[in-house]
Amino acid sequence: MERRPLLAGNWKMYTTIAEAEALAGAVARSAIPADRDVMLAPPFTALAAVGRVLAGSPVLLGAQNVCWEEKGAFTGEISPAMLKDVGCRLAIIGHSERRHIFGETDAMINKRVAGALRFGLIPVLCIGETLEEREAAQTFAVLERQLRKGLLGITLADGDQLVVAYEPVWAIGTGKTATVEQAQEAHYFVRNLLVDMYEKNIATQMRILYGGSVNPGNVDALMSQPDVDGALVGGAALKADSFCSIINFNKSA
Ligand code: PGA
Repeated sequence: MERRPLLAGNWKMYTTIAEAEALAGAVARSAIPADRDVMLAPPFTALAAVGRVLAGSPVLLGAQNVCWEEKGAFTGEISPAMLKDVGCRLAIIGHSERRHIFGETDAMINKRVAGALRFGLIPVLCIGETLEEREAAQTFAVLERQLRKGLLGITLADGDQLVVAYEPVWAIGTGKTATVEQAQEAHYFVRNLLVDMYEKNIATQMRILYGGSVNPGNVDALMSQPDVDGALVGGAALKADSFCSIINFNKSA
């Protein structure tokens, strides 16, 4: 089954509003092949401004996290309704920096996924093992735990409602990319888990992104793997020329 590639930029805690507008403008004005989706996830402070820049372009606005409640006493959180209000279509959930620096648990991430879906936001659920876990041969066990707990009780009508991102923690911001074989092996494992959890047509329709030091030099080989359906890009998404090269990947033979 053909899945539409998704190239997503996670700007993390970078960019002033002016920098965000300039970067989003450069991406939106670039030639984006019609057969793929592009998402930009600026910091919360720049969402409204970037949303205005992207209006009328096919580039999708995404958030870097989302709360599960519509409103209430949740100091420091942003609700799915607020993200919809500002034009977001997707929300990154469970990024390894949220899990490892801010102590987010699988249970919390599960609530965020449910909250996003309730308001029609597409969760980009991030999972991935640390170096210690990989070296202890725990990779598959960690992926299975994060996926099953993150999606506990989550029903889906179709595979477009959710995106999974496999991001090995040891490859994020380190310049170390998983080999294409390591990426495909993990994605294939995740695909089979999804087949076990959901109807087959939903599992085969769902996009699984790879993240961790993706750059213009390795994206073609990664995207040529059968279960790699896109990329979640950090560092290389902060420069328009490198992110635009990634958007314009060509599957290598
Ligand atoms: P990186 O970040 O591309 O800088 O490794 C990826 C991510 O954290 O989503």
